[in-house]
Amino acid sequence: MPAFSRLAQADGSCMMVMVNDAEFVKQAEGWGARFLPRQRLGRYTSLGVGGEADFFLLRRTDALEPLVEGLRQRGIPWTLLGGGTNVLVPDEPLRKVVLQLVPGPHELVFDGHTVRIAAAAVLGRSVMECAKRNLGGMEGLVGVPGSVGGALRMNAGAYGTEIGPLVRSVSVFRGAAGVREDLPAELAGFAYRQSSFAPDDVMLSVTLELPEKPYAGILEEVKALNRRRLGSQPLKEKSAGCIFKNPPGLSTGKMIDQLGMKGLRQGGAVISERHANFIVNRYQAAAADIFRLMEIIQERVLKAYGVELEEEVIVWRN
Ligand code: EPU
Repeated sequence: MPAFSRLAQADGSCMMVMVNDAEFVKQAEGWGARFLPRQRLGRYTSLGVGGEADFFLLRRTDALEPLVEGLRQRGIPWTLLGGGTNVLVPDEPLRKVVLQLVPGPHELVFDGHTVRIAAAAVLGRSVMECAKRNLGGMEGLVGVPGSVGGALRMNAGAYGTEIGPLVRSVSVFRGAAGVREDLPAELAGFAYRQSSFAPDDVMLSVTLELPEKPYAGILEEVKALNRRRLGSQPLKEKSAGCIFKNPPGLSTGKMIDQLGMKGLRQGGAVISERHANFIVNRYQAAAADIFRLMEIIQERVLKAYGVELEEEVIVWRN
């Protein structure tokens, strides 16, 4: 039996990669990876869009090595999905198999002012766990959705805090080489919404060094920031946060707003009336609707301001 098959399109090109090897799937399940065939990825993304893919949920990170090696030997391309909160997945079936790490127990291990957090842990919850031990410095990040691993990849930030400067080291599985590495923060290339991690690097855990701060003070700050966020961002709608980066010294939301584009609709997708750099999936949008709105925004901003907007959301291209 072939290891995988490719669902073909009428023109003969590949439409979807499917794992088609019962023996391999059984092995993978033994390593702690649950196989879910033909999942609609919209179920796993905060935007609620994305086509079908074969999916492995990894309950143990030590399943990564054999699984990735097995996929490599069989020539099956793969990609990692983090929390799914900052990603735009196309509507078409995927030409890759998707892996996702499932958060488990004991995600945070404290040692004085340092904490090691599993990459699959939810960022906001981790911030509050640290707060309970009077460790602060991450207040601004509490409302940033998604996993700790995703936050590292994007060097997530909000309200004057970025995760990068708090990082001491990152444990990463280098998918291309199939090896684990402990990377000191200086080598992680953290800058505004970027890091040096490759798409096939899988974050395993991070060690942060945090300043001491009383829990009550952290809680007060977190509450104030949450109120601010609630007032300025469409948190109750499906989105992937800000769609474009802010160009140096400029605000993308302000530029789109000044062009009168809030409320602009394409299919089921709308430019949020609350924050113009958010595209929300209000009426069962397709990814294609969101892509089109992004193009329209980019064209109009380029014409009006001479600025080329760069995607902030991670776009999966088939
Ligand atoms: N503004 C408008 N109209 C809008 C939106 C914003 O005029 O529709 C103005 C605001 O009034 C303000 C300025 O633009 O004067 C900046 O707006 P805001 O404070 O909302 O911050 P932002 O630069 O748009 C950034 C991050 C957010 C983060 C907030 C809070 C980026 C691309 N965005 O937004 O991050 O939550 O600051 O710190 O860096 C994300 O990463 O997905 C994200 C939402």
